[in-house]
Amino acid sequence: MKKNLLMWDQTLFRDIEVFEITYVPEQFDYRDEQIERLAFAVKPALMGGSILNTICRGVPGTGKTTSVKKFFEEIEEATKKIVPIHINCQIDSTEYAVFSRIYTKLTKNSPPSSGTAFKVLIDMLAKYIEKEGVIPLICLDDANYLIYNKEFNNVLYAALRIHEVYENIGIGVIVVISDPDILLESVLDARVASVFRYETINFAPYSASEVAGILSQRVAQGLYPNVLSSEQLDYIVDRTMRCGDIRVGLDLIKRAVMYAETDARREVTQEDLQKAFSASQDLHLSGTLRSLSSDELLVFRQLVKMTNDNTLITTGDIRRAMPDDAPKLTRFNEIIEKFDHLRLITLGYANKGSGRKRYVNLRYDKERVNKLLQKKN
Ligand SMILES: Nc1ncnc2c1ncn2[C@@H]1O[C@H](COP(=O)(O)OP(=O)(O)OP(=O)(O)O)[C@@H](O)[C@H]1O
Ligand SMILES: [Mg+2]
Repeated sequence: MKKNLLMWDQTLFRDIEVFEITYVPEQFDYRDEQIERLAFAVKPALMGGSILNTICRGVPGTGKTTSVKKFFEEIEEATKKIVPIHINCQIDSTEYAVFSRIYTKLTKNSPPSSGTAFKVLIDMLAKYIEKEGVIPLICLDDANYLIYNKEFNNVLYAALRIHEVYENIGIGVIVVISDPDILLESVLDARVASVFRYETINFAPYSASEVAGILSQRVAQGLYPNVLSSEQLDYIVDRTMRCGDIRVGLDLIKRAVMYAETDARREVTQEDLQKAFSASQDLHLSGTLRSLSSDELLVFRQLVKMTNDNTLITTGDIRRAMPDDAPKLTRFNEIIEKFDHLRLITLGYANKGSGRKRYVNLRYDKERVNKLLQKKN
């Protein structure tokens, strides 16, 4: 049978970049309300007031970063008075790194020379803000990393107190947090809590029809017609909903189409999708594992070690098998709940014998998890 071979330079992608994780889409629906609230918080600064601080909360893949970036684009078009600065706290995870980044982005100078004291850095920053008459609006994206690092209070304190260096200056703050278990009231220390006023903006997970809307829009933009059928898109939406992160869907489409391309086919098959799903799931899982703190990882490793197909394990079994330096019971329970939230495990309840038991089920294939855990070392 003669194969319908594609020429080497033929591609099924109209624009492959559309499926990259860092891509900022032209069309961005379903988040108008959140972006309006961000705008509302910033508006007073255009009339001589100060920016209201905001906290954006929502699990991974709910459009927080993209909403902020879209909003920042609008600010840049509308005014020079407010200077938006996006900071990725996974990269800049200390007080010094954050302010050094603010300084370089704002002044477009090279970073302060190493050895510059923090106080001097803040002084240089304040002087610049006063001289230029601007209001920096900083977005602490993925601020959970500052919290894990115990740097969050220091960063906020320094940002909120900058007007003490020069009276008439101020910094606006947008905090982005993707960890649903962080209770802000217990994170903020008293000196920060007394000066930090904020509004919370919630990013609820997308519904299946919203996921379908987002993915089909990307497909129309990024692929040639008829590469994916509408039934296949339904399958992708379903898999994406199970992982709860839209990135899984975007990555799945990209991989499946690449498999079809490599095989010189013009259409994606069910096998392409299944193969792609395993790989995309790994991407999601390794992202989740990267975000775990060291005590969480300790519990997770133990949980994975004890997982097997034949017996059910309980939270009690796991805790009893942990070494002496394992997290205390309250913390241990918090961690287990977090795994449930992150969809790493499912929790089943049963009343048995002396009391209520919680059964733990790993959502992923043990071998695949082990492979990813080994890579982490
Ligand atoms: N409403 C939307 N329309 C189109 N694309 C979207 C939408 N929401 C999210 N996306 C896409 O999904 C991906 C994840 O979005 P984003 O990075 O903004 O999520 P996030 O909430 O910041 O996640 P995390 O907490 O993991 O950082 C991006 O590639 C983004 O382009
Ligand atoms: Mg983000």
